[in-house]
Amino acid sequence: MSEHGHGGGHGHNHGHGGHHGHGHGHNHGATHGHGYTDHDQAEVLDLDAELLADHTAAVIDWLPTATARRVTDLGAGTGAGTFALLTRFPEAHVTAVDASVDHLQRLRTKAGERGVADRVHTVLADLDTDVPDIGAPDLIWASASLHHLADPVRTLRGLHDALAPGGLLAVVELSGMPRFLPEQAPDGHDERLPHRGADWAPMLTEAGFTVEGERTVTVHIERSEAVERYARIVLGRQLDPDVLEKTLRREDLALRTERKVWAARKAR
Ligand SMILES: C[S@@+](CC[C@H](N)C(=O)[O-])C[C@H]1O[C@@H](n2cnc3c(N)ncnc32)[C@H](O)[C@@H]1O
Repeated sequence: MSEHGHGGGHGHNHGHGGHHGHGHGHNHGATHGHGYTDHDQAEVLDLDAELLADHTAAVIDWLPTATARRVTDLGAGTGAGTFALLTRFPEAHVTAVDASVDHLQRLRTKAGERGVADRVHTVLADLDTDVPDIGAPDLIWASASLHHLADPVRTLRGLHDALAPGGLLAVVELSGMPRFLPEQAPDGHDERLPHRGADWAPMLTEAGFTVEGERTVTVHIERSEAVERYARIVLGRQLDPDVLEKTLRREDLALRTERKVWAARKAR
């Protein structure tokens, strides 16, 4: 769920048809935004999944729902949320929606490897157009995906319509880019991602939801081989090679970020 490599790009390719999320992943090796390819993004999303697994499990446990059977993972990427949800809700089937063919392919491969292919269904769709047919889920999980959208309230209305009565929407967002060094300041506003770091509560209310809970999770993961690999991808785009190698050896290298979560209910 990192802001890095998530394609850089999904959602900010203005000038390529003007549509967020349009055509992502159809182009092997295509670069987006900051020069990330779908492949880079997939690697970062997998690292995120690995490093943030405990945080993700804790967030799902915190949600005000004891059980879920029909679940949608919106902007599922390579499946960080999908697999965490399948673990937490053993009865559940997950519909994973994304605009990237490559990410969904990777997600299906993983589902096969983990023996849960029969519990996962993928849907290729651009959420900036209409919400695709996702049945009437009792839980929709949207992690680091809604801020990519051109008109989030419009999409939130579509999600409200799609949910089963009494269903829950969980919005998970990063407050900004992950940081790796203590002296690194949080990044500022990125005009290509105007909804990143937004307060989703008013938008959720406007779309008809009742916000039942909000929570901020501070993430600080000490250096490890995975943190170093992650930092290599992200900082590798910002630093000269010799500075990069020196930086990666630093003892205080760590993954630092904040995630915010909103739990929003549709009335019965
Ligand atoms: C930062 S990734 C998050 C992936 C995953 N939810 C996670 O937490 O690891 C954002 C995802 O949203 C998808 N996405 C961006 N814009 C989209 C759109 N308009 N329609 C569908 N998916 C979109 C991207 O392809 C990408 O997989």
